[in-house]
Amino acid sequence: MKKIILLILFLQKINRATLLRQKTLLTYSLPENRHLKRLLGYTEDTYLNFTELATKYRYPSEEHTVITEDGYVLKVFRILSKCRTVSERLPIILMHGLFDSSDLWILSGPRTGLAYILANNCYDVWVPNHRGNRYSRKHLTLDPNKDIEYWNFSFDEHGYFDIPAIINYVIEVTNKSKLFYVGHSQGTTDYYVAMSLRPEYNDRIQLSFHLAPVAWLKNIKSPIHKSIAEITTEIKAVLDLLGVGEVFARRQLSHIILEFFCQYAPQLVCGTGLTITTGFLKGTVSSRTLAVAFGHVLAGTSVKSLAHFGQLILSMKFHRYDEGKIGNLKKYGLKKPPEYNISKIVSPVFLICGQNDWLSSLKDVNELSSRLPNLIETYIVPEPYWGHNNYVWGLEAPELIFKKILDYLKRYGK
Ligand SMILES: *[C@@H]1O[C@H](CO)[C@@H](O)[C@H](O)[C@H]1NC(C)=O
Ligand SMILES: *[C@@H]1O[C@H](CO)[C@@H](O)[C@H](O)[C@H]1NC(C)=O
Ligand SMILES: *[C@@H]1O[C@H](CO)[C@@H](O)[C@H](O)[C@H]1NC(C)=O
Ligand SMILES: *[C@@H]1O[C@H](CO)[C@@H](O)[C@H](O)[C@H]1NC(C)=O
Repeated sequence: MKKIILLILFLQKINRATLLRQKTLLTYSLPENRHLKRLLGYTEDTYLNFTELATKYRYPSEEHTVITEDGYVLKVFRILSKCRTVSERLPIILMHGLFDSSDLWILSGPRTGLAYILANNCYDVWVPNHRGNRYSRKHLTLDPNKDIEYWNFSFDEHGYFDIPAIINYVIEVTNKSKLFYVGHSQGTTDYYVAMSLRPEYNDRIQLSFHLAPVAWLKNIKSPIHKSIAEITTEIKAVLDLLGVGEVFARRQLSHIILEFFCQYAPQLVCGTGLTITTGFLKGTVSSRTLAVAFGHVLAGTSVKSLAHFGQLILSMKFHRYDEGKIGNLKKYGLKKPPEYNISKIVSPVFLICGQNDWLSSLKDVNELSSRLPNLIETYIVPEPYWGHNNYVWGLEAPELIFKKILDYLKRYGK
């Protein structure tokens, strides 16, 4: 095994030189064929994009472009408040998680989509996309189809670059001094990275909500994730060798197949898929939402993001990306990657977790909450079935989660 790894690493060195010279990556995505989807009877919302969905349900929206310090071009949507009066309310950022996009917050429709519910309640809602997903697959100088450097990021860069850029932008446009932040899954990880590495941003947060918080991954339940984590280094090495920086992108085979089967057997295929990867009880998300959701998830990310999660599962710590001894010395001035310092997150945090969440387990949330200096509440959803996707798509999410968020927004509102 060791020999094989060494061989891979050696080939990778040669390959990196070739990759840099030939300037093409092994990446693909097949064209979207809406006509075919209509013929096959797909639910329309499966293939509409953010703006089309919002328009269809009569929510005025805007498309904004945010450029990070390191040149990544991010798409940020905005759903305008439904109230006529000029609102004194602070803006809200809704940050999606891994493999996901802005669409997460609206795809279940106007009655249950959190972004819509907030707009109905007079909030100005900002819905970003992190670097590398379908809406933010762009850079000022790098080409995501040709330059492997484009994909050289994990959630560390989401936190260090994307989140601060988005916060600055929203504050500038709205002329408010603070805002609210809601994150789901990796959208919470991004927050811990941002607020610990750049603590000055804590001042801009009025209150943050964390649905399925992910920091420590010591007690992850999914056997699939565990076994993949064990070979993270090898997988990353092989993919680097092949020139693959992007994974699970929209219109790649994995997405097309999932989307297709979820149209016809949402609970059976997609429900089972969720059950064995993230924790899910069939029937707790409507079949329509599941069918629509799988047109939108698998929005693309970097291999390095997955590798970073793999490292956390193996090391049982919450630390920056391990670039190897030499890389670490260069980047951090240390042989080992430094841990994120949770005591620097001094902005108020409200954690929301579930008992059947295979990725964000109660024990791991405990590890995080015990270190947070400004924890407002840890709310464990009382339904024992509550899994990783119920927070945002669940039939009971409006009742069990969104009501609570609205209460807190009012209490902390200005
Ligand atoms: C959404 O779709 C519309 C119509 O196809 C298109 O004009 C628009 O550019 C798309 N928006 C994004 C952000 O992809
Ligand atoms: C990725 O970035 C790190 C520093 O953040 C650097 O050490 C490493 O060489 C880069 N890798 C590639 C493939 O560009
Ligand atoms: C921004 O807000 C401040 C007070 O918070 C106000 O004095 C100023 O006029 C506002 N600027 C604009 C352009 O609305
Ligand atoms: C973490 O941050 C706190 C607060 O700023 C500081 O007192 C502590 O020394 C830091 N710990 C490490 C290991 O850097």
